[in-house]
Amino acid sequence: MNKQVEIKRRRIIELLSSGEFYSGEIIGQHLGITRAAVSKHIRSLNDLGLDIYSVTGRGYKLANDVQLLQPEKIKKYMSGDMSNQIDVLNIVTSTNDFIKQNIERLNSGDVCIAEAQTAGRGRQGREWVSPFGCNLYFSMYWQFDQGYKVLSGLSLLVGIALCQSLEKLGIDGLALKWPNDIYFNNRKLAGILVEIEGQMDSACDCIIGIGLNIAMPEDVDGIDQPWIDLKQITEKNIDKNRLVGTLTETLMSLIPIFEQEGLASFLSYWARRDLFINKQVDLTMGKKLISGYCRGIGENGELLIEHNGQLNSYHGGEISVRAR
Ligand code: BTN
Repeated sequence: MNKQVEIKRRRIIELLSSGEFYSGEIIGQHLGITRAAVSKHIRSLNDLGLDIYSVTGRGYKLANDVQLLQPEKIKKYMSGDMSNQIDVLNIVTSTNDFIKQNIERLNSGDVCIAEAQTAGRGRQGREWVSPFGCNLYFSMYWQFDQGYKVLSGLSLLVGIALCQSLEKLGIDGLALKWPNDIYFNNRKLAGILVEIEGQMDSACDCIIGIGLNIAMPEDVDGIDQPWIDLKQITEKNIDKNRLVGTLTETLMSLIPIFEQEGLASFLSYWARRDLFINKQVDLTMGKKLISGYCRGIGENGELLIEHNGQLNSYHGGEISVRAR
């Protein structure tokens, strides 16, 4: 999107986020544009999932509170010596794409977050529904010098970092679903999409994408599985900027440990939150179906399934609890 349009829409949201009514005329004066242009921007923002309504004679108002992402607030929640670059965007196709497009100028630990994604991606080619201002759409860049071989298990580590970050904000009762989802009460709260670019043996570029449901609009469509958001889990008002700061800091401290030692020191944390541990499960790998008892994960992030007394490990596929 054109930078000027992006700035104008951001400014409109900033004005409306005060919770007050603003007339088209006043908004137009703030932005130096006509009322008709204001109304066009408001329509586009509504199309992106932002609920702005208008009342004749009073103007526009946001139906729900929107807390905007703000780099200076995020930095307040990170220790002073951290120099990560944090790109905060209003609207982007996908934060993972933004990282890929800017990879040349990025350093390990740099982050992109957005208020909305127009082409958010989930695993296995699924869409990741990304309405404006409601959720977290976060991507971090990391370069792994040892190449692909250190990467099995990375998405599990990212799930652990997200889970720890939420726990630091007082949210308990979370479960980890292999390989990379966070659940609460058997419903999906967050998903992780790690994308990799580079050669087999040389350094490779990783894009760590995290989508977390914070306060989905009530009329959201397009999600094809049971889901939950933080608003349903906790009465606490989650500060998104604090969450981003905490998550960035947690990833920055855990990834170097993972680079040195793999998942070894995280296995007990996973085991305590494993959604399927000791349950009868089905693992679908393409057309293949493997059934047995889930026995947790191994040191390389592989899923362990016991069948007829034999323990086997699996590196890919989708796991579900066996229907009775
Ligand atoms: C999944 O569970 O299917 C993974 C979802 C990952 C979604 C995040 S949102 C931020 C980043 N940008 C994307 O386009 N996808 C990831």
